[in-house]
Amino acid sequence: MSFSHGAKDRLTRHDLGRFPGDSLFDRLGRTLAGIEVLPRKELYEAWEVARRTRRRCRGGRVVDVAGGHGLLAHVMLLLDDSSPEALVVDPTRPPSADPVSQAIAAAWPRVAGRVRYDTRPLAEVTLAAGDVVVSSHACGALTDLVLEAAAGAGAPVAVLPCCQDAETCDAGPLGGWMDMALAVDTIRALRLEARGYRVWTQTIPDAITPKNRLLLGVPNVYSPPRAGGSGAE
Ligand SMILES: C[S@@+](CC[C@H](N)C(=O)[O-])C[C@H]1O[C@@H](n2cnc3c(N)ncnc32)[C@H](O)[C@@H]1O
Repeated sequence: MSFSHGAKDRLTRHDLGRFPGDSLFDRLGRTLAGIEVLPRKELYEAWEVARRTRRRCRGGRVVDVAGGHGLLAHVMLLLDDSSPEALVVDPTRPPSADPVSQAIAAAWPRVAGRVRYDTRPLAEVTLAAGDVVVSSHACGALTDLVLEAAAGAGAPVAVLPCCQDAETCDAGPLGGWMDMALAVDTIRALRLEARGYRVWTQTIPDAITPKNRLLLGVPNVYSPPRAGGSGAE
């Protein structure tokens, strides 16, 4: 049977042999398979979002909004050690959060203590221009709040939207030409550009998730924070 990267089945110790190498990805795969708490797709999704984001956005405090288990925040640190810390903002902290964080800290001690969880909703968290804001599957209009908060702070941002909703999201005038979800994401990209951002529209493999549009933006006037410096100003 094929090994689907989009499966919601948990990664388990039976999968350890699927990650045989010394690459960072294989080591991460073995680490997560060893704790048996995450659906397989979470590994591939977080990895694909983080590596595309890190090509454009280095350093900074990572803020993983609607981050749940926080894997994306951890992978962002693993891919760029110049970020001082990461903050996972989510009112719900799932049972998988502690095992994920502890297992990654055990495998990469340099990450230990650098990922914090904040259970306030995004609206109560202050973002700064030196942050790198990421959000994977912030449902519906929550993605708009993430984009608005990042743009308000002048911070780079990467979102992988889902659950676009005609009632709460804005498809502009585009609904007659394209499906509603694509119209909503198109309006989001253009709106971010109009806020003074350079925007990239990408996709992650649809075998991982059909909600695979990645919207990345970096302010036109942007100097990445100095390595090791605090993201919060
Ligand atoms: C579909 S889950 C995505 C979780 C994770 N990023 C992932 O991809 O597995 C959406 C998350 O948004 C969180 N959420 C809902 N309202 C929020 C808010 N106002 N601020 C931050 N997170 C919120 C929920 O608790 C939930 O964990």
